[in-house]
Amino acid sequence: MSSAETHPKRLIEVDLPIERISSHARREKSIRHGHISTLHIWWARRPLAACRAVILATLWPDPADTRCPERFRREAAQRLRALRDRRGGTPRRWEDPLELRSALLDFIADFANWDLSNDKDYLETSRALVQIAHESLGGAPGTRPLVVDPFAGGGAIPLEALRVGADAFASDLNPVAVLLNKVVLEYVPKYGQVLADRVRQIGTAIRERAERELGTFYPGNAEGTPIAYFWARTVLSEAPGQGSIAVEVPLLSSMWIAKKANRKYALRWVRGSDGKVKTRIATVEYADGSDHKVRQPLLELFQPKSVRDVEAGTSLGGAASCPVTEFTTAVESVRAQLTPRRGGASDARLICVATSRAGHPGRFYRMVTHEDEAAARAASAELSQRLEMHSGDLALIPDGQLNHLRGFFNVVLYGMTRWGDMFSPRQALALTTLVRMVNEAGEHPTNETTPDFTAAVQTCLALVVDRQAEKLSSVARWDTSRENAQGTFGRQALPMVWDFCEANPFSGSGGDWDTALDWVVRVLENTAVGTEGKIGDGHVERASATAHPLPNDSAQAVVTDPPYYAAVPYADLSDFFYSWLRRSLRGRHDDLLGPSLTPKEEEIVSLSHRAAMYREKNNAWFEEKMGQACREGRRVCSPSGVGVYVFASKETPAWEAMLAALANAGWVVTASWPIDTEMGSRLRARDSATLASSIHIVCRPRENSDGSLRVDAVGDWRDVLSELPGRIHEWMPRLAAEGIVGADAIFACLGPALEIFTRYSRVEKASGEAVTLKQYLEDVWAAVAKEALAMIFSGVDATGFEEDARLTAMWLWTLSTSGKSSDGEEAERGEDEEDETTAVRANAAGFFLEYDAARKIAQGLGAHLEALRTLVEVKGSIARLVPIAGRTRSLFQKGEAVTASGRNKAKKKTGQLSMGFVADLEEAEESGGWGDTGAPQKGETILDRVHQAMILFGAARGEALRRFLVDDGVGRDERFWRLAQALSALYPASTDEKRWVDGVLARKKGLGL
Ligand SMILES: C[S@@+](CC[C@H](N)C(=O)[O-])C[C@H]1O[C@@H](n2cnc3c(N)ncnc32)[C@H](O)[C@@H]1O
Repeated sequence: MSSAETHPKRLIEVDLPIERISSHARREKSIRHGHISTLHIWWARRPLAACRAVILATLWPDPADTRCPERFRREAAQRLRALRDRRGGTPRRWEDPLELRSALLDFIADFANWDLSNDKDYLETSRALVQIAHESLGGAPGTRPLVVDPFAGGGAIPLEALRVGADAFASDLNPVAVLLNKVVLEYVPKYGQVLADRVRQIGTAIRERAERELGTFYPGNAEGTPIAYFWARTVLSEAPGQGSIAVEVPLLSSMWIAKKANRKYALRWVRGSDGKVKTRIATVEYADGSDHKVRQPLLELFQPKSVRDVEAGTSLGGAASCPVTEFTTAVESVRAQLTPRRGGASDARLICVATSRAGHPGRFYRMVTHEDEAAARAASAELSQRLEMHSGDLALIPDGQLNHLRGFFNVVLYGMTRWGDMFSPRQALALTTLVRMVNEAGEHPTNETTPDFTAAVQTCLALVVDRQAEKLSSVARWDTSRENAQGTFGRQALPMVWDFCEANPFSGSGGDWDTALDWVVRVLENTAVGTEGKIGDGHVERASATAHPLPNDSAQAVVTDPPYYAAVPYADLSDFFYSWLRRSLRGRHDDLLGPSLTPKEEEIVSLSHRAAMYREKNNAWFEEKMGQACREGRRVCSPSGVGVYVFASKETPAWEAMLAALANAGWVVTASWPIDTEMGSRLRARDSATLASSIHIVCRPRENSDGSLRVDAVGDWRDVLSELPGRIHEWMPRLAAEGIVGADAIFACLGPALEIFTRYSRVEKASGEAVTLKQYLEDVWAAVAKEALAMIFSGVDATGFEEDARLTAMWLWTLSTSGKSSDGEEAERGEDEEDETTAVRANAAGFFLEYDAARKIAQGLGAHLEALRTLVEVKGSIARLVPIAGRTRSLFQKGEAVTASGRNKAKKKTGQLSMGFVADLEEAEESGGWGDTGAPQKGETILDRVHQAMILFGAARGEALRRFLVDDGVGRDERFWRLAQALSALYPASTDEKRWVDGVLARKKGLGL
């Protein structure tokens, strides 16, 4: 028995308006001003909409539960009626508990709206109901419910707990996250608008002083004020026979500078009348101390009329192609040259400048002047001097080491191994100056301020420095379509950027100090309103979730969003900011900022494949540590309390580890809700299934009323298995109705499946042998696959479809999305809104799934991947459903040695695929002798035949298609058309597959079939 059976159910255990909450969560993503996500970068932040809704539904009992306290029913009805009278809404029969439930759920859905998040009426109503729920569920009068988040990150969950009147306890292992929580949960509620005003005032004064000190290093001229400088790292061309003076190749990923429909600027090489690229001789001194006389190819700006006027850049896949010698220096040599120069940011070549002009909207571009070059050199000299003069225990520029996380921190491959290497000399000069001034601001508290207030102000200013640093690193790019400086962390990684953009911190435009300050202050102001009035206490600590500081049974709810397995290396990423925070806040927060880098050992991430130092952090380690954390969560949660764990991953091993951790920790899953937050776009994009939803797994401690763990609930394996299909069968249509399909729906089924299994402390076979969760999950995947297939083919008679057709259909469905976006409102776009789109799920190279997911789906359908080698290819951890064009050879050239899985064709470059298939077909026509008169030999399965017809259509072989369908009788098989129809609904729009299958379907009638 768990508390779910002895205590009234909470709303979240019976229902949640997931579609409406999801819609608000998606919309919130693009509302940036004042949103805590703009206070400071934190990775994989939760939308506040989802947090607020989930917390309320967790703290409020279900009025339709017979055990719901009458006081809650009565007072909830009164409050909601009063709100309805003031604000309008549906008339209700308030005395009907089911109607009251739906009124509460409506309130939750409405209040998830960002526009209402600071609305007084909604704030007061939610707080009153939280208090009433708490007291009527047994909380001592006057106390508040405590919501605990042991993986608090950027603080979304605890902030929302405070907003609705609960106490919040936020902890995280990471000191940067802890500081962010401190600002949001402690400083802002305590100092409100006064803090915001003071930060703006001192921040503005800092800008004025810094500009006086550094302004000459950013000289403007009649052509305007520089907004950003465009730099290119360089390498020496290794072309043989260049003579004694090598060409210095500026590494340009693209020649575009502005690429808007109505405004185009690009770089081009200056060529002589002979067409050759002109060069100038220069002597350059590289950061490794070497001097070189080089030939620098000359560039100029121009306004292209069309994209064809713009040449390719010089850097492709890391190799450097020389515009003068046309020689390509291999990526290995590029690395070898840049490594001793620590990435080459400090000896990069200044290329051109973006400016703004007072009274003239838009950006202007000009080539570099001598003054620009001299100013950059002077800044570098100034920095050298300051470095020489600097003394103290902390290096002036961050000197901590970056880990080489394969696939995440590629900059390390080019010699950027210390955090300071991320910055060019002028960037470092600006940042170290701002750091110094923020420190000084903390040294002189005035008479009216307390030391704590001064610390609060200084901490907020340190966050402004971080925001500035994020814009001011040598891996920040210029966005050619928005014409603004992007930050360092467009992704949760540090990829090498060859041509970087250096924002001018005093430009008066986006990317400068004032903008960074404004973003921070707006968050302080907005959060101040949401946490004003009678709210709970926020408490913040640095702690590992595996050893939680709170005593047993102290929380009414544990609501948390643990790390997503291998998706984000938080600690490593956060060292970028931590390195500056230690300097901006010298002498403050010593408990947090003592070590030279963030602690990593206890961070629960599965990164064994990324770096030697994380060798032990594999799947088993993740499961074990997450298990400890979940046990701690249960320990802290009162026996009558509720846990909510948010999880998102498209990797099946990640799910298995997370679920095993929860189940083994003694949590009983009582509900689960997918909330579509478009997480997929926040996690690393890849051409494979991405998830839009995160699953909120609701659970209760499997405990006796004294808090001890129950171990006597033994379940019968046969009962568990017989209940499973029915539960999935119920759940899938609900998901579909809420717009949750594909991979999202598959993972969203894990919750209900777990509800059955975790009811028991142990599930046993008749022999007495215990069943592991892993074993159970095999059956779950199979049940989900069967149910999904039934849904995909609903209305279609699928009898007679072979395993290849079933697998194809299921595969395409898994990759599908609902295509929903926010409610169509024009979202407010922020200056630094990330330009991330949901990962492409299909492209000309095929349809990708994680291999393990594909294997499980196949197993569930009774299909065998190994037997379908011309349809599915596996490479490492990725499985690919071969695009139809890539099957041409195997489908038409019967008898010819088709290499396993048709791999010879698949290797063609993406763009060549559609051309290649016609050549393959021609070959087959010739060798098969059916080109002019006959039709190809029929494929073995219905799917093969549908694909053959599609290829004939795609290659414009109308007559052969007719002969194939009519004369050979392929089109007389009803199953052929049923499958074609089903596939038409599954192939993503704008793929060849979709056009071709529709083309075949369109011919049916005309052919009299
Ligand atoms: C998904 S994030 C939380 C994001 C947060 N909900 C938000 O909206 O910003 C997971 C967090 O877990 C933290 N973490 C990882 N291992 C931890 C551990 N052992 N103890 C506590 N926190 C840990 C990471 O630092 C990260 O902040």
